[in-house]
Amino acid sequence: RTKVWLDCDPGHDDAIALLMCLYLPELELLGVSTVFGNTTATDTYENALRLLHAFAAPEEITVFPGASKPLLRAARIDSEIHGLHGLGGTEGLTPFSDPAVQARAARAGGRNAVQGMEAAFRDVEGKVTLVSTGPMTNSAALFSAFPDLVQKVERVVFMGGGVGLGNRSPVAEYNILCDPEAAQIVFDLPVPKVMVPLNVTHSAIFDEDAVTRLVTHAHATSARIDLNSIPTTPLRHTLYTLIHFFASTYKKVFDFDGPPMHDAVAVTYAAHPELFEATRYRVDVELAGTWTAGETVVDLWDYRGCDESWGAGGKNVLVTEKLDVPKFIDLFLECVDKADYA
Ligand code: BDR
Ligand code: CA
Repeated sequence: RTKVWLDCDPGHDDAIALLMCLYLPELELLGVSTVFGNTTATDTYENALRLLHAFAAPEEITVFPGASKPLLRAARIDSEIHGLHGLGGTEGLTPFSDPAVQARAARAGGRNAVQGMEAAFRDVEGKVTLVSTGPMTNSAALFSAFPDLVQKVERVVFMGGGVGLGNRSPVAEYNILCDPEAAQIVFDLPVPKVMVPLNVTHSAIFDEDAVTRLVTHAHATSARIDLNSIPTTPLRHTLYTLIHFFASTYKKVFDFDGPPMHDAVAVTYAAHPELFEATRYRVDVELAGTWTAGETVVDLWDYRGCDESWGAGGKNVLVTEKLDVPKFIDLFLECVDKADYA
């Protein structure tokens, strides 16, 4: 199994990403770190722990709290998309103060994201796939402090950026825009990076048909079903309310018919790269720019004549371009089936 670490800012689609990290059989989740982004660092930390509880994660999996602001810039949050405290509209989560959630939190032993990742990466047998679904501040700090740790990284798979496409400016995607300098530091690391940009995640829409399958899935036949009210199990109810809220903000802000499952697509790459088409390019982040700060600049024509190395000066990023969306939706619903019985 592929060993993964999830660095995230839950966040609705981060929640789906976390569920898939736990239940895709090809993956072994080592740990979770959180970062400001969709909401404050305090919220994302508490949300991640509450989600691990809701998803019946093994008790040894815990959360290490990370950066509350970018390396150089002022922090921003995105309540327009993710609502109050980052998981707006989501029902049925156990409060952070619950003893079981607190006991899981205590397993981190007071260590922060950089400390947690450092220990896990050093201890691991083989290598880790780092999945990043928020601003890259924690990763930039980790590899700046411990450059030798890149040897323990198989690849960095990140949801972020766009090829000529933005969502929080005409050309900037939110995760990169939050901390462009951190993203550039990660982009220059001498390890394979896989970019899952908006161009791909906007194809991974959780449409009406998927919602119906979520709430009425064949395996959801336990005694807990109330056929007069959807959804059918506590977990499905939580996921339904989560997706419903996310769908409503994406309708309001972007006029999408169904929310894009951005971060879950990155996790899917870690488990199933064969579901993607991808090409290697030089990618850098626009760090200034009157109109374009935070843009991922993808050198589609190899204008700069870059070599085959993954670091600074090379074709540093494998940019995903296409996903088998029906298969992705199937994989997510299979994860829900498994979690329902966990
Ligand atoms: C990214 O920003 C957040 O809204 C999502 O969680 C995702 O990681 C999409 O631009
Ligand atoms: Ca995210």
